[in-house]
Amino acid sequence: MGLVIALNKGRILEECLPLLARCRIQPEESPDKSRKLIFNSLTGGHRLIIARSADVPTYVENGVADVGITGKDTILEYGSAMSFYERLDLGIGRCAMMTAAQVDVAEPPGVLRVATKFMNIARHYYQGQGRQVSLIKLSGALEIAPLLGLADCIVDIVDTGNTLRANGLTPLEKICDISTRLIVNRASMKTKFSEVQYLIQQLDAVVNLDSIEENQAVPPEGVPL
Ligand code: PRP
Repeated sequence: MGLVIALNKGRILEECLPLLARCRIQPEESPDKSRKLIFNSLTGGHRLIIARSADVPTYVENGVADVGITGKDTILEYGSAMSFYERLDLGIGRCAMMTAAQVDVAEPPGVLRVATKFMNIARHYYQGQGRQVSLIKLSGALEIAPLLGLADCIVDIVDTGNTLRANGLTPLEKICDISTRLIVNRASMKTKFSEVQYLIQQLDAVVNLDSIEENQAVPPEGVPL
């Protein structure tokens, strides 16, 4: 029995496909060259769903995907219910969730205006700090909000820091580290235990030992190699 695997479009997908290929899971055609969003795998009877990041946890929670691969930011933002298992850190897509503000601009007294697309993460963070804030929801390009006077600071992902620097911002506090994670539907963890476990062991070997040859994982019965 194959797995349905939901993958995050974009950078995560590009980094994941080579890892999955080393686990012998490859889409029958390249997602780069096709407008299709569901692909059968060449072997193993798996199916790959190419989804928007915010939808990967939804697919996994609702069981239309057995497994999902997406960023920790997406998982945290999805909310507190988290009715799926987070089982593996793939060690790719490493970055940090940070607050940032304009260089040399002092934090104003009173309620802080914070622009972000990560409303849940920001709300939870400032609640933990006991800080009263007004959250402003944006969809992207958050860095321009302080420049335009819309916000005093932002909560955003920082990787190289180039985007902050280019827009006259500086990182302030780290909220958490982010990387790409593998999540598993609760029912699939039971009903497809051996397939899920085999995928986790294979990916774990690829990302942590960096050598599939050292992988001791035993394929479940009937899984073609
Ligand atoms: C992310 C993030 C920052 C940028 C950080 O944006 O929101 O803007 O990357 O990367 P850096 O520290 O290496 O400059 P993304 O490219 O995902 O687009 P977005 O603005 O639509 O979120």
